[in-house]
Amino acid sequence: MKSILALTTLAIWVASTNAQAAVYQQCGGIGWTGAATCVSGSTCTKLNDYYSQCLPGTQGATSSSLPPSSSSSRSTSASSSSSSSLQSTSPTSPPSSTSSAPSSSGTCAPNAPPASAGQLRFAGINIAGFDFGCNSDGDCTASAAWPPLTKYYGMDGAGQMQHFVKDDGFNVFRLPVGWQFLLNDTEGGPVNDANLQKYDDLVQACLSTGASCIIDLHNYARWGGKIIGQGGPPDDELAATWSTIAAKYASNDKIIFGVMNEPHDIPDIVRWAQSVQAAVTAIREAGATSQLILLPGNNWTSAETFVSNGSADALNKVTNPDGSITGLVFDVHKYLDTDNSGTAAECVRNNIDIAWAPLAQWLRCHGRQAFNTETGGGNTASCATYLCQQIAYQKANSDVFLGYVGWAAGNFATGYVLGETPTQNSDGSWTDTSLVQACLAPSSQS
Ligand SMILES: *[C@@H]1O[C@H](CO)[C@@H](O)[C@H](O)[C@H]1NC(C)=O
Ligand SMILES: *[C@@H]1O[C@H](CO)[C@@H](O)[C@H](O)[C@H]1NC(C)=O
Ligand SMILES: *[C@@H]1O[C@H](CO)[C@@H](O)[C@H](O)[C@H]1NC(C)=O
Repeated sequence: MKSILALTTLAIWVASTNAQAAVYQQCGGIGWTGAATCVSGSTCTKLNDYYSQCLPGTQGATSSSLPPSSSSSRSTSASSSSSSSLQSTSPTSPPSSTSSAPSSSGTCAPNAPPASAGQLRFAGINIAGFDFGCNSDGDCTASAAWPPLTKYYGMDGAGQMQHFVKDDGFNVFRLPVGWQFLLNDTEGGPVNDANLQKYDDLVQACLSTGASCIIDLHNYARWGGKIIGQGGPPDDELAATWSTIAAKYASNDKIIFGVMNEPHDIPDIVRWAQSVQAAVTAIREAGATSQLILLPGNNWTSAETFVSNGSADALNKVTNPDGSITGLVFDVHKYLDTDNSGTAAECVRNNIDIAWAPLAQWLRCHGRQAFNTETGGGNTASCATYLCQQIAYQKANSDVFLGYVGWAAGNFATGYVLGETPTQNSDGSWTDTSLVQACLAPSSQS
């Protein structure tokens, strides 16, 4: 999550005033006050209590049996590159009646999600603590890292994860860590064995639950304010750190490598893709040949501007050493508050029209996938409504979205505005925060 507020238009989600919702727009759900009927050729389909959506097809028909709707000529780039004012009016994910596979012709034909979509591969929570002391300039100090484990006088991150898996059905955790902690504050130095061992205690606690575990280098593409490969640490230093980590976990297929948390204000995105490429090559050459690697774009890995700001095209060129893209997944974040900063208790949008629909279309057209590794909101009614809608949309498009990870539990006190830290009761059981109960926990979803 970013700690500097981006100044953006205060764009309140406005329910569509159209009499009929367009294909892929919302048409019902708790709290929904917009159009309740769909344009001709599509049917309002309930995905869960919080979200119904216009899907191509009439009642009982499949999406492959109908002609495209009149909106289907709108291009992805046109809908995702304009300002946020489009969110209340623009259908951003027009369907195609003919194709369900990525286009190989060079043109990017919009595709509908396959009928099989509906189950996300991953649902999880961030377990924060080893990243404490990092700011968005990539200034971290090793001594400020606070392991979220009781043996290091932190919260019981191990117990939290066991609870999240056993009681809620989560199956992934993201474990942020500052680069400075791993290198014990020595830029360009080797990974510090003792510090890596401490971090590994958290990784092992995660693995012991049976969940997948994302290793997240939480440095905003920087060390001490300077950008990797663009005035800051050379790509080799990033690659060397990843090589050490990847060698340690090379044989564990539950490990996911998160190359970098939230790059922002990167002047040259094509150059940044080279830094990411260096990390990917290092991970694969260290023997971690098959695990997922998450590739982060510019602007705080914003899902909304991933395509329009050039991150998609630049990172689409990153490959494994053999030239394939197997296991290379785009990392995207999105918050639901007024300025997408993840700092406000109230949520104002579900991000579908402005971010998820155009991104889904781009991914489908290019045969790629993304993982939403940070999202969340306050423990408020507005966030319950909008986050449930966002997750329902991701589930409906699970061919291109791998899943979501809520921000955050671990060492966050229960009073933290985006806190997802459960409370342990005297009998040893746990009580979740209201947003985890309402939306994030897979067990809460229909
Ligand atoms: C990390 O660096 C500090 C300061 O140089 C030093 O006191 C400490 O012993 C180092 N920690 C480890 C685990 O090497
Ligand atoms: C970054 O993304 C936010 C929304 O996520 C958007 O409002 C802002 O304009 C973007 N900034 C840039 C530079 O693309
Ligand atoms: C992405 O946003 C940055 C910051 O506003 C801008 O300088 C850059 O030109 C944008 N890149 C593209 C490809 O839109």
